[in-house]
Amino acid sequence: TGYITYDPGLANTGSCQSSITFINGEAGVLRYRGYAIEDLVAHSSFVEVSYLLIYGELPTRAQLEQFQDRLTHHSLLHEDMKKFFEGYPPSAHPMSVLSAMVASLSTYYPDSTDPEITELNMIRLLAKLKTIAAFSYKKSIGQPYIYPRNDLSYTADFLHMMFAVPSEPYEVPPLFEKVLDVLLILHADHEQNCSTSTVRMVGSSGADLFAAISAGISALSGPLHGGANQAVIQMLEAIHQDGGNYQKYLAKAKDPNDPFRLMGFGHRVYKNFDPRARLIKKLVDQVFNEMGVHDPLLEIAKKLEEAALQDEYFIERKLYPNIDFYSGILYRAMGIPTNMYTVLFAMGRLPGWIAQWKEMREDPHTRIYRPRQIYQGATHRPYRPLDERE
Ligand code: CMC
Repeated sequence: TGYITYDPGLANTGSCQSSITFINGEAGVLRYRGYAIEDLVAHSSFVEVSYLLIYGELPTRAQLEQFQDRLTHHSLLHEDMKKFFEGYPPSAHPMSVLSAMVASLSTYYPDSTDPEITELNMIRLLAKLKTIAAFSYKKSIGQPYIYPRNDLSYTADFLHMMFAVPSEPYEVPPLFEKVLDVLLILHADHEQNCSTSTVRMVGSSGADLFAAISAGISALSGPLHGGANQAVIQMLEAIHQDGGNYQKYLAKAKDPNDPFRLMGFGHRVYKNFDPRARLIKKLVDQVFNEMGVHDPLLEIAKKLEEAALQDEYFIERKLYPNIDFYSGILYRAMGIPTNMYTVLFAMGRLPGWIAQWKEMREDPHTRIYRPRQIYQGATHRPYRPLDERE
């Protein structure tokens, strides 16, 4: 059967050919379809970047308007889906609800060999994810659902569905709309990370878009991946409650006998800096200045980062703050509850997952994902009937 390479974590395996996202981990470069992340953040909206990722080119004004129009007109959920939310306990983690709801979408919008239906399903998913996310939050706090509004931008509509109540008018703060839009762009794709590889792996069997992306959401939920943004804030809160003793947590992270890791630090690909983390850190300073607010967790995060960057352990292993280190600080400033942070990561990553699923489906080289293993178990053993076992 040929020679099998042992590659734990598939760190050295190119699992596909792709034209979507380029990363140079040594130089801290990230580009979507050839465009630098810094340029996209400065000039484009999240919806525009979604179009770029999925269709390969930046849209013309007419294309963007049509795309935006389709996204607003597909943002309602089937009314029956509200019953699903009722079935979950109030304590349900919104990431679990999100992946279950996305899997459920395939019962309403089955897959088809008709490319127009496949395309429509991509639009439906992109349009509806923010509604699902906001409804799961409203359900968890016992407030009535706020329906999507077609006159608001994608990002403002999400914030409106999260924070508006029927009894009084609510205006989305423009600063929050801008900041969240930038954060979504920064999360929009990251080549073959764990959740994206999951989307491709599930999709490679021919499973439909909703099944593949529901699996991707589940992969993202783990603390080593998207779940890290929630874990960072929980870690900073714990340090705060511990009198701000960040040195203690730094020591724990370095201790080979302690499984604790500094959340929001380290990356499989970035070995000098994570360009997304740099952009977010700049944004944090701007936002906190503009809002005139103070967050003790930000002070702790900055001290922790500074100490880690000067520490031999982190220098040797090339561990730098990643995208998750400061994103939670911004979500917190916007009043977004901690258990929604990873849901926001999923909302941002969705166009990337869709683009990768589409590219996989259209690629004639796609084969079902079927890695091999290095078997370490027993060799052949004589069978012992039940009565003869001790
Ligand atoms: N704190 C302490 N030590 C660390 C950390 C950390 N955050 N990250 C890596 N190390 C150590 C690790 O113990 C190992 O040391 P040694 O060589 O002595 O055994 C060395 O650095 C290499 O780590 P690794 O686990 O082999 O690296 P990986 O490429 O398999 O894992 C990672 C990458 C991101 C999962 C890991 O750095 C980590 O667990 N970080 C914390 C969780 C986190 O912030 N995740 C978000 C990642 S970025 C966005 C996303 O993907 O969602």
